[in-house]
Amino acid sequence: MTTCTYSTDSPANVRSGLLVLPMFRGPKGPLPGPGVKEVGLEQAYRDAKLAGKKQENLLVVRRDGDRFAAGAVLLVGAGDKAELTANVVRRVLGRAASAFPRFGTVATTFPQAVTGKAVDATQAAVEGIVLGSYRFDRYKTATAETKPLTRITVLGSARADAKAPREAVKRGQIVAEAVCWARDLVNTPAGDLPPAQIAREAQKMAREVGLRCKVWGKPELERGGFGGILGVGAGSVNPPRLIELWYKGAGTETPIALTGKGIAFDSGGLSIKDAKGMETMKCDMGGAASILATMRAIALLKPKINVIAAIPSSENMPSGSATKPGDVLTHRGGTTSEVLNTDAEGRLVLADALAYLAEKEPKVIIDTATLTGACMIALGDQITGAMGNDDALFRDIGAAGDAVGETMWQLPLYGDYRRLIDSNVADIKNIGERYGGAISAAWFLAEFVGDTPWIHLDIAGPAWAEKVGDLGPKGGTGVPVRTLVRYLLDRSA
Ligand code: BES
Ligand code: MN
Ligand code: ZN
Repeated sequence: MTTCTYSTDSPANVRSGLLVLPMFRGPKGPLPGPGVKEVGLEQAYRDAKLAGKKQENLLVVRRDGDRFAAGAVLLVGAGDKAELTANVVRRVLGRAASAFPRFGTVATTFPQAVTGKAVDATQAAVEGIVLGSYRFDRYKTATAETKPLTRITVLGSARADAKAPREAVKRGQIVAEAVCWARDLVNTPAGDLPPAQIAREAQKMAREVGLRCKVWGKPELERGGFGGILGVGAGSVNPPRLIELWYKGAGTETPIALTGKGIAFDSGGLSIKDAKGMETMKCDMGGAASILATMRAIALLKPKINVIAAIPSSENMPSGSATKPGDVLTHRGGTTSEVLNTDAEGRLVLADALAYLAEKEPKVIIDTATLTGACMIALGDQITGAMGNDDALFRDIGAAGDAVGETMWQLPLYGDYRRLIDSNVADIKNIGERYGGAISAAWFLAEFVGDTPWIHLDIAGPAWAEKVGDLGPKGGTGVPVRTLVRYLLDRSA
């Protein structure tokens, strides 16, 4: 467990293992950020011939006679000071933070350098350090390198009222730890995290943070008519689940509804993937993980809103009992779908969850899913594809994404493409044509939300990192938890 605190100690006096201070690029050489002069290292940075560009970092270990109490100081190149926003603070600190844990404790003045939104920058600094130092080492033999940071201190200027920055530190910690939990769930091998185990993790979380949680098992799903969740799970020895969570922070107000694709493992089913295509498919519950993590963060942050989540989880496997191409499933609410490709399974489980949520007449429905390879082709591995039936909802989600540095891009739910999912046999079929695959998938989902304002976030690209990024290692990323938490906090009365 990492303790995160706000302090008005002077940078020179702070006794952390590592003190992280910003350096900026100026017109005539590097410019010292808050704390650099106090610790007497302005000249050292110049002497190292560094200019203050991003990633131009200098580590100085304390020696007798040094003017600082920390074990070491890391001067971090942060680029132009005028461009230092909360999002830049998060990324620059995140990038450096993979090297922080070995120092045990860390302090930074970074947010002091942001003009204006100091509170956002304070939250972002904590997020950057927690996310950037994240590792998934549960399956590695323990070594000295595997011990986490024990303390993160944000150093503020010594003004009296510190309520806002203290809350920002706490918020940053709650959000970042939720993101890390989503990453852990995604990174955990599918063999250790079948639907029933995802549901147990949800129940444990709900108990810890005080959420209402109901888990639907196979008999309840059968009685409730959840033919999509059951049909996708039919080929697996691990039975499916539906995880329902309630957060109540605003009495009887209409809730906001969330759902996320929870395919514990996507082999493709009988329309089986090749070996390469299956390698990372433990990530196919990334949408579910992000919704569970969002609910956890919201329960701790307590905004004045109501939220309901219904998360479908099945394992998509081929076997003698699996759903076959050509089979017809009846979804919650009675809509039928012809399954022409069992690898287009995410929409089948989400359909049931969306229909169930629409019955509750929520204000809006938000779903997030590692849904289509087509969305990765369209937008690459960093951008979430957003589709839906309500422009205002897209603007709000897009604004939340921009505010926290998770980029969303709207793809059109183009009317003519609805016919791509017309079926000869059932109400709709589960695949369109080769082109426009992200949009035909969204049209499938649209069938189940009725008139409810709804947005679908296709995170097939950003949910999983094939390369090390500024905010974390390879593997699960926890996208779009930060956006969803921000969106929900902004809705608080
Ligand atoms: N889970 C995959 C989509 C995916 C692919 C996510 C790669 C992350 C990385 C999804 O279930 C799938 O297999 N989609 C198919 C749909 C097709 C059969 C219509 C796809 O995108 O190829
Ligand atoms: Mn699939
Ligand atoms: Zn899938």
